Amino acid sequence: MNFHVLTLFPDMIRDGFQTSITGRAAEKGLLSLQTVNIRDFSVNKHNRVDDYPYGGGAGMVMQAEPVCRAYESVRSRIHGSARVLYMSPQGKVFDQRMAEELAREEDLIFLCGHYEGIDERVLEEIVTDEVSIGDYVLTGGELPALVIMDAVSRLLEGVLHNEESAQFDSFHDNLLEYPQYSRPEEWRGKKVPPILLSGHHANVEKWRREQSLLRTRERRPDLLERAVLTKEDKKFLAKQDGLC
Ligand code: ADE
Repeated sequence: MNFHVLTLFPDMIRDGFQTSITGRAAEKGLLSLQTVNIRDFSVNKHNRVDDYPYGGGAGMVMQAEPVCRAYESVRSRIHGSARVLYMSPQGKVFDQRMAEELAREEDLIFLCGHYEGIDERVLEEIVTDEVSIGDYVLTGGELPALVIMDAVSRLLEGVLHNEESAQFDSFHDNLLEYPQYSRPEEWRGKKVPPILLSGHHANVEKWRREQSLLRTRERRPDLLERAVLTKEDKKFLAKQDGLC
């Protein structure tokens, strides 16, 4: 996977990416990151890339030409087509399913805006997907791009170690994770659930599944509706409701 990020703040992207698991994966050659500073493509002697909005209003708008030239510099280095993700609160809301879909691509181009947005004409020309990371407004697209790159990276072969495997994560099957405990057995008077100390693998698995079901129902009933439940799962939940 090759990530290409068009941004006014390349250091922010590189610093965020180099840290932790994504940085380790890049060092191993499992993925790569290229940042392109849109300011390097300014067509203005003051190196500006923004201007006043036509029609008036607050704030500045990023101009079409520098964004387009930055994009073309990336395109010339990629063979074949590549999706261009514009980070914007107006976009489709990012989720695990989208992460799984994006992880199948060879190259992904991220476009990070600032100020009051980017001239619509260049967006119409180059953007394939407008993506939001949630219903709140950030100061720019850099953090959303890092969020998406992180979620996509950890799905790629070899990025996570076996023990960190993405296979059994929350959201993978629309169920939240069960609670986890580590040593000591008793901490400030709070004991680890005895079943986890029993050494009985099948019972532990059953308990964990039930905890996932209960958590999801309590915290995210919307997810539970989309989860694939077994006969045993349904029976367990019904029993909790005193239905059988
Ligand atoms: N840019 C500003 N806010 C954003 C959000 N919530 N998601 C994606 N890009 C953004």
